[in-house]
Amino acid sequence: MREILSVSQLSIDYPLKRESLFSPRRSLRAVDDVSFSIVRGRALGLVGESGSGKSSVARAVMGLQRPSSGTLNILGRDIFAMPPRELLGFRAHFQMIFQDPYGSLDPRHTVGRIVAEPARRSAAEMRNEVAAALEAVGLNPQDSSRYPHQFSGGQRQRIAIARALVTRPALLVADEPVSALDVSVQAQVLNLLRKLRETLGLTYLFISHDLAVVRYICDDICVMFAGQIVEHGDVGTVLNAPAHPYTIALRDAMPRLDRHGPRRRRSTSPEEARADAEPGGCPYASRCTLAVPKCIRERPELRPLPDGRSVACHNVQ
Ligand SMILES: Nc1ncnc2c1ncn2[C@@H]1O[C@H](COP(=O)(O)OP(=O)(O)OP(=O)(O)O)[C@@H](O)[C@H]1O
Ligand code: SF4
Ligand SMILES: [Mg+2]
Repeated sequence: MREILSVSQLSIDYPLKRESLFSPRRSLRAVDDVSFSIVRGRALGLVGESGSGKSSVARAVMGLQRPSSGTLNILGRDIFAMPPRELLGFRAHFQMIFQDPYGSLDPRHTVGRIVAEPARRSAAEMRNEVAAALEAVGLNPQDSSRYPHQFSGGQRQRIAIARALVTRPALLVADEPVSALDVSVQAQVLNLLRKLRETLGLTYLFISHDLAVVRYICDDICVMFAGQIVEHGDVGTVLNAPAHPYTIALRDAMPRLDRHGPRRRRSTSPEEARADAEPGGCPYASRCTLAVPKCIRERPELRPLPDGRSVACHNVQ
């Protein structure tokens, strides 16, 4: 099986605003030593609460955010080591679907021009490919002469998916692709993404904060907390019996339709958790009910368990 995406020891720092001219430069480590890979045809879900670093990873994979350290290979090529002109052509192999179908489509352009854009050719030159992409997402090829405002939110997300498909990419990165849509159309778009994956043999990096969505779409899952991967494995293994205390809390925080209502939610923001974390310790220690003194001193490594998943916790062997 061939690796489509390989991310190794990826870290991303954002500079923070200085309080004054004389205060030291500080930065926020949004992604901290993250490694994972996806082989052809698999779908990996990246989950975690707001601010855990999911979109930062996605932006790096798309070549939109240069990492502070680490490597990122797509189809065996390091995209940050590629000459800009070569990267422009290589981009056809990886495409992205964004969360907001309103902001991601240029309202001044026709659907045909929007869908053809990643191929860097005109809508006229790409007529057949655009028609095929629109058909693949359940739209009419004649829609190519219309404008985005003439479509509903769900239809616009289908246009965005058609645009992502037009170059026949190997890798599709989807960052919360249904969370801005009405609940009534979310299932339709998820069904489409699942069907496209099967029919076109696509490989997905799929970002969501919704575990049910990840369970539906993905084979594997990486759980992120404060920029680090805390649990990584097969979706069924991880979600049926989460091992890391944070994954257990995430699973328990999922709305439950039983008489008890939603379970307890988190009490600290990721930024607060980062600030509370001792340098070198477990980032989850300030929230964790199982924390022992070692958790404050020593950062747990992501270690493989006998069932195939990996977990970063001193209390999980
Ligand atoms: N351009 C930036 N400059 C400074 N800080 C940033 C920047 N982009 C993200 N951050 C910070 O980095 C951290 C990770 O952000 P990121 O957007 O990757 O998280 P996320 O998991 O995608 O969150 P969400 O679920 O809300 O989309 C957050 O603390 C965020 O405030
Ligand atoms: S290493 Fe310690 S603090 Fe971190 S999740 Fe495990 S038990 Fe909790
Ligand atoms: Mg995000």
